[in-house]
Amino acid sequence: MIAKDRMSKILLINGPNLNLLGRRRPEIYGTTTLKQLEALLTQAAEAAGYKLVVFQSNHEGAIIDFIHSEAPTANGLIINPGALGHYSYAIRDAIEAVGVRTIEVHISDVHVREEFRHVLVLTPVCVQQIIGQGIEGYHTALRWFLDHP
Ligand code: DQA
Repeated sequence: MIAKDRMSKILLINGPNLNLLGRRRPEIYGTTTLKQLEALLTQAAEAAGYKLVVFQSNHEGAIIDFIHSEAPTANGLIINPGALGHYSYAIRDAIEAVGVRTIEVHISDVHVREEFRHVLVLTPVCVQQIIGQGIEGYHTALRWFLDHP
């Protein structure tokens, strides 16, 4: 039963400030809102027989709590950690601790922006990183999990 649940559940986490998607720096992050993004992705996951569990928080600890409680029964985790991706060893350790296959997404191309954005500390615990594809990057991540059940 648990094994079946695990196979059919994918997590989507968006970190700090991503609740402002669509309004925050649209020239960088686009005009799609978080609600619209979550709805589109949920639909795409459901069409493939998966349940998408979505979560957004501006708090590092809340994200870690969510990973601890949901990831052990999930088939994969798509995370845009926002700025936490540049320095949160705590999120890195949480992903490593639960051992969930993780894809890190950044909407913008962090490598051509300010220097502090060039550092990505989740790299060693991710199976993929999708950077600078805009909102489409989330769909690319979902497709990877559908192709690698
Ligand atoms: C971001 C890039 C981060 O540097 C930034 O802090 C964000 C969004 C992105 O999706 O491009 O909040 O993760």
